[in-house]
Amino acid sequence: MAAYLSGFGNHFATEAESGALPVGRNSPQHVPFGLYAEQFSGTAFTAPRSDNRRTWFYRLRPSAQHPPFQPLDGAGRWLSAPFGGKVTPNRLRWSPVTVDGEHDFIDGLVTYAGNGDVATQSGVALSLYTAACSMDRVLFNADAEMVIVPQEGALQVMTECGVLEVEPLQIAVIPRGLKFRVAIDGPSRGYVCENYGAPFRLPDLGPIGANGLANPRDFETPMAAFEDRDGPHTLVQKFMGHLWTTRLDHSPLDVVAWHGNHAPYRYDLRRFNTINTVSFDHPDPSIFTVLTSPSEIAGTANCDFVIFPPRWMVAEDTFRPPWFHRNVMSEFMGLIEGQYDAKADGFAPGGASLHNCMNAHGPDRDSYAKAVAAELKPHRIADTMAFMFETRWVLTPTALATEMAQKDYDACWGGFEKARLP
Ligand SMILES: [Fe+2]
Repeated sequence: MAAYLSGFGNHFATEAESGALPVGRNSPQHVPFGLYAEQFSGTAFTAPRSDNRRTWFYRLRPSAQHPPFQPLDGAGRWLSAPFGGKVTPNRLRWSPVTVDGEHDFIDGLVTYAGNGDVATQSGVALSLYTAACSMDRVLFNADAEMVIVPQEGALQVMTECGVLEVEPLQIAVIPRGLKFRVAIDGPSRGYVCENYGAPFRLPDLGPIGANGLANPRDFETPMAAFEDRDGPHTLVQKFMGHLWTTRLDHSPLDVVAWHGNHAPYRYDLRRFNTINTVSFDHPDPSIFTVLTSPSEIAGTANCDFVIFPPRWMVAEDTFRPPWFHRNVMSEFMGLIEGQYDAKADGFAPGGASLHNCMNAHGPDRDSYAKAVAAELKPHRIADTMAFMFETRWVLTPTALATEMAQKDYDACWGGFEKARLP
């Protein structure tokens, strides 16, 4: 059973062996039990204190003890931006994929879209994963922080910092470079956002005040847990968009104690304090932001992670589903369960959609007709959880994703009658 520490971005201190954490010094001459002290940085050393992220590991062997990495062939569907090629402005939507084969989490990653550049540490890549077996290797991603959004099947993510257990309606966030292994207990699938930019953080709340949206205490970071295992282990890293591998004679998940504020965490989306109108109209969907990765332009995110959870709809004289819009930001959506209130069908749990910069979208014709005919009583949207990764840069779909997209998505906006002037 995994154990957790509560809070977002706190400076935690945790030890799996009593007395393993040095007291008062980060790297004393003699670390307890002969453990090796190692700093793990999530921001530049000189980043302002409010942004600065780092953790000290105390481990059985230093991470530096490894043979050279060799290119790993055969993982051609998990890609990194930029992908090149002509970018379609067209709206795209994908049906869910089935979990088949014998692949693990790494080989089951298929990249659908991305932007920015992995080399300049800006932008994101959006992938969907399926997994039919647990990993028997350990991964770290030098290119990106990873947000894992399970849609089917629970995951046990053993990390250097401890164990995260996540099931659908929860997410896991793995810092850039942190080593981890994903175990499953059945066929699994879901979504992954690789964030090349600034680490995700909680959004400012402005006039909302001190409470609301995702509350800091609901973020859970694992307490220290480690593997003391000798024998052959495979370590894989993603570096500059390519996979590399090396062999170790021990488990690299051997951190006995750690302290710091750069650590993985999980969050249960059902704990989100959803805020919306109690009079008329809608706030913008940014009111549903769980986490944000800022860019250098204030309020213009490298990426926002936004959810559409169960909620009451009470607005008077209002078109209640998401309105028609043309957004300067680009939107990649997924659905964990239920139905999204702007689409009657075609957007199924496990599916995805892409609406790029300035390209019009919104309710399909059936959802529109239903909404304008509805009697506006308080109404609860129940048993649903859609989400969106929204980003300031155009998202380029991969060639494979373009090929896999539904062929008739535009048709859902066909057949609107012309407005009647007097
Ligand atoms: Fe949108």
